[in-house]
Amino acid sequence: MTRADPGWGRVAQAARDVFERLDWGALGEVYCDFGGERFWRERRADVVTLGRELGKRLLHRVPRGGASLWVGAGLGELPVLLGEVLLHGRTVVAANLRARECELLNAALRSALPDVALAYVAEDARTAGGAGAFDHVGCISVFTDPETWPVLSDFAYGRVPPVRLDVERFVAERAAARALAAGLFARLRRPGLVTTTAEEVAWFLEPAAAVGAAIDAEAELVPTAVVGDPVGFLAVR
Ligand SMILES: C[S@@+](CC[C@H](N)C(=O)[O-])C[C@H]1O[C@@H](n2cnc3c(N)ncnc32)[C@H](O)[C@@H]1O
Repeated sequence: MTRADPGWGRVAQAARDVFERLDWGALGEVYCDFGGERFWRERRADVVTLGRELGKRLLHRVPRGGASLWVGAGLGELPVLLGEVLLHGRTVVAANLRARECELLNAALRSALPDVALAYVAEDARTAGGAGAFDHVGCISVFTDPETWPVLSDFAYGRVPPVRLDVERFVAERAAARALAAGLFARLRRPGLVTTTAEEVAWFLEPAAAVGAAIDAEAELVPTAVVGDPVGFLAVR
């Protein structure tokens, strides 16, 4: 905690309290592709530090009392989500299709912070949280997820030589990802903000162009704690 940001010190402590209550062994099984329990234990401190950096920047850009839709939100986003709720009185819908991960994170949240209105929902972000619109959409390492989009992920990270690209699977995954991007963009009120990784920006440019919305990508980037991809902000008008 620093004297300059007592609010974020409180958020960091709240995140650490949730981590104390988390079943790390069970969470490691959900994320076994990443290296399991050990991977997460080693990243706990980074999740808090980098989450605070991203969260501070986000709260400079979104209004108090507004609402965020996070797609694929997991442990990595927890400090940012807590910052939105605790410091800015914002509503957060944090959707993640991995039901077990939501269950574990929610159990730790309820135990550590019973009075805080934050829970992960195991639903598709295109429909989660009812029919409302959001002034902010957060999307970190969703379109680059090798579990959901193995071919798109290999392509995005340059892991597949063109001669070995499975074109049919690529086309099918791209169609599904385009539909997700369009569905997320449709939930964003304008003017609005998108928080996403540099690798995922292009997915949002397409639905924006389709409705004549302008997107300005801000230059400032923060690394993510989990994958390490840089995260930044897209101002949408
Ligand atoms: C690689 S994980 C990223 C987790 C986290 N954002 C991070 O950076 O550590 C991608 C997540 O996106 C989720 N996801 C994919 N499509 C989704 C959708 N339509 N709605 C909600 N979550 C989705 C998956 O369930 C998965 O948990």
